[in-house]
Parts: sequence; C-alpha cells; structure tokens
Amino acid sequence: MVDIDAGPWGRRGAALESVATDADGLPLTLADFRSVFSQVLSESTLAYYEGGGADELTLAENVNSWQRMNLWPRVLRGIDSVDTSCEFLGRRMPHPFIVAPTAFHGLADPDAEIATARGALDAGAIYTLSTLAHTGPVELAAAVPDARRWFQLYVLRDRALTRAIVEEAVASGFEAIVITVDLPPAGRREREMRTGFTLGGDLVVPSIAAAGTTEPITMFDLPNLFDATLSWSDIEQIVRWSDLPVIVKGVLHPRDALAAAEHGAAGVVVSNHGGRQLDSVPSGAAALAGVVDAVHGRVSVLVDGGIRRGTDAIKARALGADAVLVGRPILYGLAAAGSPGVSAVLKILVAELENGLALVGERRFDEVTASVLNPEA
Ligand code: FNR
Ligand code: LAC
Repeated sequence: MVDIDAGPWGRRGAALESVATDADGLPLTLADFRSVFSQVLSESTLAYYEGGGADELTLAENVNSWQRMNLWPRVLRGIDSVDTSCEFLGRRMPHPFIVAPTAFHGLADPDAEIATARGALDAGAIYTLSTLAHTGPVELAAAVPDARRWFQLYVLRDRALTRAIVEEAVASGFEAIVITVDLPPAGRREREMRTGFTLGGDLVVPSIAAAGTTEPITMFDLPNLFDATLSWSDIEQIVRWSDLPVIVKGVLHPRDALAAAEHGAAGVVVSNHGGRQLDSVPSGAAALAGVVDAVHGRVSVLVDGGIRRGTDAIKARALGADAVLVGRPILYGLAAAGSPGVSAVLKILVAELENGLALVGERRFDEVTASVLNPEA
C-alpha cells in the first residue's frame, strides 16, 4: 500500500485525494500521477525533474511528435487476445517498457532507487540505475536482487573510479551497461537556474562522493566530474571492460548510430535526454526511422522521450524500435506513491498497449509494421 506519511512526502494523502483513484488508492492515468507529483514535491525538485533546455522546444516536441501520429486500425482480424512481449539484446521481455535512467530518486521517495526498482520488478520491466543515483549498484542489487537491471554509466574524469563502478555493477548482476553520451555539459536548464536547484544536504550520491565532491552542487558543476573528452575509442575500450552488452544512449544522428554499431555497441537509445540538453534538436520519434535505416539490424534500437501512453509504443514499433524507455512518468509514480506508484504507471502503459493492439488490429506487438502509421507503407 502507499506510504502516505513518509518524510516530506506527508502531502501525498491530500494530493491523492485530489484525483480519481482505483481500488488500491492509486491514480488512474499517467496525467493523474503527474498531478499528484506536482503537488507533493518542492518547487526546485519539480524544476529539476520536469524542466528542459532553454526554450523547452524539444521538451514539448517529444510529447507532440507521438501525439501527432495517427494510428490506422484494421478491423475484423479475429483478435481476441494480444501479446505484448518483445525481444531485444537477445532476451524476451513481457512488454517493451524499460525504466529510463533518471538521477536522484531520494528527492521523490525515502526509499529512493530501491523503491523504483521494486516497482519495476513488480511490473516486469527492466530498471536502469543511473550513475547519479542515491543508491549504488551493490546496495541496489542487495535490496532488490530479482529486479532485471541495467547500469547507466556517466564516464567520470577519474577513469579508474569509473571502471571500479562498472566492475561493481558487473559483479552485482547488472545485465547491460548503458553509456550516456549526450551530456558532456548539462544543457541550459533555466528552470533549475531560476529555482537554484542544488544537490547536497543529507542525501549522498555515492558516485559523486567517491569522486571527492562533498559540497552542494548544481547540474552546471557536472563538467568538474564528467569526462567531456570521451570519444568512440573510449566506447570501444569500455566494451572490453566486461562481457556485458553496451548500449549507447543519446544518439539522434544516423551516422552516430552507425558509429556505435561499428565501435562494438549492442544497442543504441535514440534520445535527446528528455529535452534537457540542446534545445531544438529533433525528438526521438522524429530521429528514429533514420537510425533504424542506418544500423540495418546490426544493433538493437531503443527510443525515449515523451512516451506518455501505451499506444506510443505501437508508434515506436511501427518506426522500427525494439522497445521504449520511460523517464519522467516513473518519477510521477515514485513521488506520488513510492514503489506501488512506479508499478502502477508501468501497468497502465501495458494496459494501454494491450488495448491499443486489440483496437488497431494487431495480435502481436512484435509484428507491428509501418502500415499502422501509413496505409501506403
Ligand atoms: C534524466 N535522464 C537521464 N539520463 C541518463 O542517462 N542518466 C541520468 O542520470 C538521467 N537523469 C535524468 C533525470 C531526470 C529528472 C530526467 C527527466 C531525465 C534522461 C532519461 O534517461 C530519458 O532519456 C528521458 O527522461 C526520456 O524522456 P521522458 O520519458 O522523460 O520524456
Ligand atoms: C539530468 C542528468 C543528470 O539531470 O542526466 O538530466
């Protein structure tokens, strides 16, 4: 059940009462979860979680791109059950929703990333732990050993420390390394500037502490920690650090996706980092088809940014994605209701996907093709 009295989240009770809820007291839609989330967190945490780069054009475009696409349903196809399962990186999963890496879950729930991973496990989703988490990989694995887990890597200036963190993730059962490549510095996030969002206080980020930084920092201090000299030869080197598949997250240009394949990656995430980095770049939805074309089946192709409905996954599949990552909606669930909220958000997406497949006339998610978006395709 929802722990409505936990810490500064004591506001959850009243906020949950402001929306329609199900039998478990949980909001019915992602939009309702977002409404509760926006009532329980501080202004500066909201600015950090919700904000984007500069004029937030890309942030808006991420959601709009999926919304603009029409689905072309087929009828009388005798479909009385649907199959949402799918395969990527050589593994079958019950559905295509993956928890995107997002930083600092201690700002949303007292159990931080452990709550998120529990929610993901309950909903059959892979959980991607950020380098900038309040919980390190060993602690997370010990607390939620059964969760399917990927580790997201920010390459730190201290390469030995970076390697030690990766080795911890490998030794504690993480199944893939997701190297995020679109944040040499953080983007110009003006909401964070206005509210003066800082990290610090009682909540410790183990990777930042290990790098020797203790005082409160803002996202604009990240260049002191991260290695902006990173290049494709470093990706090749990190691929050799372990047997785990490496996924390069944060490519939009087809040539970069091809370079990832050529330098040993097993997958790419077509992503603009939730519209938080360079403004005016295309949405993942807009960049996806070009990447799929360029890599030509050599690597798994995942996409994120603006996934807010289960039907968005049908659109992504039609454009050639193997699966999708979900960022902010997971934080909506976590802040609104902790681990049950994370699970509920994912299950709502799956239910919407099932309903969408049945109504669009597709029995299997895996078999969705471009003709769902374009009758001439
Ligand atoms: C992120 N994202 C991110 N990505 C990453 O590789 N490592 C990280 O630590 C973070 N941190 C982070 C924090 C917050 C608050 C947000 C909103 C996003 C980007 C994330 O993985 C993903 O690409 C986007 O969130 C996807 O867009 P949506 O689903 O939020 O629209
Ligand atoms: C973000 C980082 C840290 O705030 O990935 O987007």
